[in-house]
Amino acid sequence: MNDIIMVTGGAGYIGSHVVKLLLEKKQKVFIFDNLSAGHNQVLEFFKKTYGADADSFIFINADTLDEEGLRKAIDSVRKNHWISGIIDFAAKIAVGESQQKPLDYFTTNVVGFRNLLMATDHIPLVKSSTAAAYGSPLEEDIPLKESVIPKMIAAKRYDRSQLLPASVPFETLIEWYTKEVVEKYPFFYLDKADLEFLHIPVNVYGVTKVICEIMLKKHEKEAGRKHMALRYFNAAGADPSGLIGEDHIPETHLVPLVLKAAMGKVKCITVFGDDYDTPDGTCIRDYISVMDLADVHIIALNYIIKGGGSRTYNLGTNNGQTVMQIIEAAKKVTGRNIPVEMSGRREGDPTALVADASLIKKELGWKAKRGIDEIVSSAWKWHSSHPDGYK
Ligand SMILES: NC(=O)c1ccc[n+]([C@@H]2O[C@H](COP(=O)([O-])OP(=O)(O)OC[C@H]3O[C@@H](n4cnc5c(N)ncnc54)[C@H](O)[C@@H]3O)[C@@H](O)[C@H]2O)c1
Repeated sequence: MNDIIMVTGGAGYIGSHVVKLLLEKKQKVFIFDNLSAGHNQVLEFFKKTYGADADSFIFINADTLDEEGLRKAIDSVRKNHWISGIIDFAAKIAVGESQQKPLDYFTTNVVGFRNLLMATDHIPLVKSSTAAAYGSPLEEDIPLKESVIPKMIAAKRYDRSQLLPASVPFETLIEWYTKEVVEKYPFFYLDKADLEFLHIPVNVYGVTKVICEIMLKKHEKEAGRKHMALRYFNAAGADPSGLIGEDHIPETHLVPLVLKAAMGKVKCITVFGDDYDTPDGTCIRDYISVMDLADVHIIALNYIIKGGGSRTYNLGTNNGQTVMQIIEAAKKVTGRNIPVEMSGRREGDPTALVADASLIKKELGWKAKRGIDEIVSSAWKWHSSHPDGYK
């Protein structure tokens, strides 16, 4: 039987870059995506470049929320293939929206994930998590090591949730979790340390992702599921071909917004706060190339498939950029003006969010290779040749 790797959300931004790399490595891929934010044009591109569906990849348009449809899709693939691993990207990703529509985020990100876990036994799984797990950390903790969270919990730093105002309180998210997950599968029960971990994120999106990390640990205990949770902040850039790239609707990420401003598609870039304690007063964030992400998701999956133990790793560059540095990099690459408007600080925006990625370097030998200039130039190649994205 041929082995195949399942990529949920494989028609989306990061997922499509991972799928392309897998296909280039002649690895057969099973893309599971409901196309709520993914793009049919990506699938057309794969078909044209790597051969008709059955030869290189299988695409099933279905939703992780449709438990029966998910099981049927997996069974149909299993007739002729052995699913050797899963890389899971299917999620709702807009932090601001998650505060307004917590139930949508909880349902897709947590209930959908529950269904995926329960439909796929103990197949090794790489979960795209988020550095939102670190909430709004103290400056002394930057760059963030994975060990900061156990340290925060041991220090009992957060005896209550740090969630910023959302349309429901933290307790409601836990009630939903109990009803949708624990009542059906009691082994997913949250203990005191789990709740303290869940107190750290400042947005609903972050809470849903931390819940998934906790569920993975519990599923390993219950069913021996090997897993890898990869935490990162800002994915950016595009495949060097310029043929696939970032197209979120609406776009909320800085690099594409800045490039859209350079093209006149966005009127101006609002910079929230220029009085932070940073070299130019604007916030520092960690940008990681989508190509580096594609490499490392595959390395991580191979590690657990070959018997390596479950891990949680930060992905990052150990080196952040200020908002103004991103704008300057984009001006240099595009040779165009980027209109900027200064505004006050946004609530909950920490001065700096930078991941320390030395643990994955030490244990798996992976390190991000691409710097900000390469990220911005590759993104520009994509945006300038696709001014309306995939449309
Ligand atoms: N973009 C970033 O900067 C970033 C940073 C950290 C973590 N992440 C995580 O990486 C993953 C991918 O992010 P992205 O930027 O590629 O987002 P994206 O929106 O481009 O991709 C998500 C994909 O999942 C699909 N999907 C959503 N809900 C689904 C469901 N219920 N069933 C089936 N398919 C579904 C969408 O159609 C889309 O193709 C997400 O899990 C996100 O939380 C992203």
